[in-house]
Amino acid sequence: MTLWHGRFSSAMAASLWQLSESFPFDRLLYQQDLAGSRAHVRGLVEASLLSAAEGEQILAALDAVDEEFSRGTFERGAGDEDVHMAIERRVTEIAGPVGAKLHTGRSRNDQVATTVKLFVRDATVDIAEGALRLAEALMELGQRDPSRYLPGYTHLQRAQPVLLAHHLAAHAWALTRDVDRLLETRRRMNVSPLGAGALAGTSLPLDPGYTARLLGFDRSFANSVDAVSDRDYVAELLFDIAMLGVHVSRMGEELVLWTSSEFGFATLGDDFTTGSSMLPHKKNSDVAELARGKSGRFIGNLTTMLVVLKGLPLAYNRDLQEDKEPLIDSVTQIALVLEALRGAYGSLEFHDEVARAAADDPYMAAIDLAERLVEQGRPFREAHELVGRAVGESVRSGRPFREVVAETTELAGLLAVFEPGATLRSRSSRGAAGPVAWPYQQETWQVVDATLRDRIAAARAGESA
Ligand code: ARG
Repeated sequence: MTLWHGRFSSAMAASLWQLSESFPFDRLLYQQDLAGSRAHVRGLVEASLLSAAEGEQILAALDAVDEEFSRGTFERGAGDEDVHMAIERRVTEIAGPVGAKLHTGRSRNDQVATTVKLFVRDATVDIAEGALRLAEALMELGQRDPSRYLPGYTHLQRAQPVLLAHHLAAHAWALTRDVDRLLETRRRMNVSPLGAGALAGTSLPLDPGYTARLLGFDRSFANSVDAVSDRDYVAELLFDIAMLGVHVSRMGEELVLWTSSEFGFATLGDDFTTGSSMLPHKKNSDVAELARGKSGRFIGNLTTMLVVLKGLPLAYNRDLQEDKEPLIDSVTQIALVLEALRGAYGSLEFHDEVARAAADDPYMAAIDLAERLVEQGRPFREAHELVGRAVGESVRSGRPFREVVAETTELAGLLAVFEPGATLRSRSSRGAAGPVAWPYQQETWQVVDATLRDRIAAARAGESA
């Protein structure tokens, strides 16, 4: 029997029960639901709808339920459709008749919105921290030997050499935007829906501002209908995770390439690779493939949420219960991906000679030749054409590019561009890929990293990030 059976003459059909129960997955939100209930009880005491003694009794029962969940001894009752009903039922068993007052002035609609908000609010900070730690690991890996470099690619064709530190930092910068986005999501959503009731508020003298403060929200809702209908914060977090997942999938793809025999730029540690059940020689970069593959479900979860929300009439509709599985799935999975990928980068052995040999490909000095001609006063298009002809000649004849350049009157004096590392050293403009430009980037990074660290700490301390 459910807690709301009063108006019904027959029990729920088994098929409807199976369709609608959410306890198997929303039980994960028990801590947030308990936090919301504790605030609500204190609000009821403040409004004199509960005596102080009654309030204490219910709070003690909520603590007991907390114990049962954390010890794994909580037993679901036959009528517990979701975590909210399960907790209320158990509180009443423990506290006795006073438990029947817990739900005064509250609906599951504002209750579930509060619970999910608290879950999302915590998740934004946890994921932001995981993403920033991954970014820091990338920067550390780059600093292990700051002189290492590799070819940079466009169209996956060798384009220009770049410092390894610079290349890895490119991923780190993308991650800083994810961190910022997650903290912004947290800031925007930090408004309490508790007190909105089913949709229209209550006739009882409850103060939504009071419970909002207790729960660390910046303020309480201004519109009760919006408060119970809004799931923007779920969609936003799912977008933030999807975007982060897309960034991580690019790192995964790159690791797959780098660790292939064809590239041979890097090897992952034995603790971050897997073997083959059939082929004894295999060492597979599954961690990178999973980082790449998980992005599919992150995008899928975001799509699910947006489609569920689309066209819903105000205010609460049971469709909204469909927010939980995609939300919990994305939050759980991204944490696993971030942690494993950070470990994988930590285990990475970079094959300097292989990458350097590829990066010293003489053809990549072609742009440097053209830029030297520009310095001599030649228009860039003309310089491009001239060097392009030398490249074409080398490719067609099969003769080394350096040799053809040495025989070309206009270019013969520019052979210094072919010295190992020369073209990399000349990339010196602000934010460029060479060693001269690097200290500026590193200083900028340190400021951004420290700022994001502070914002995460402030968010953890309950301040507005
Ligand atoms: N488990 C439900 C959910 O997640 C709780 C809200 C049910 N509210 C209602 N009016 N039936 O949305």
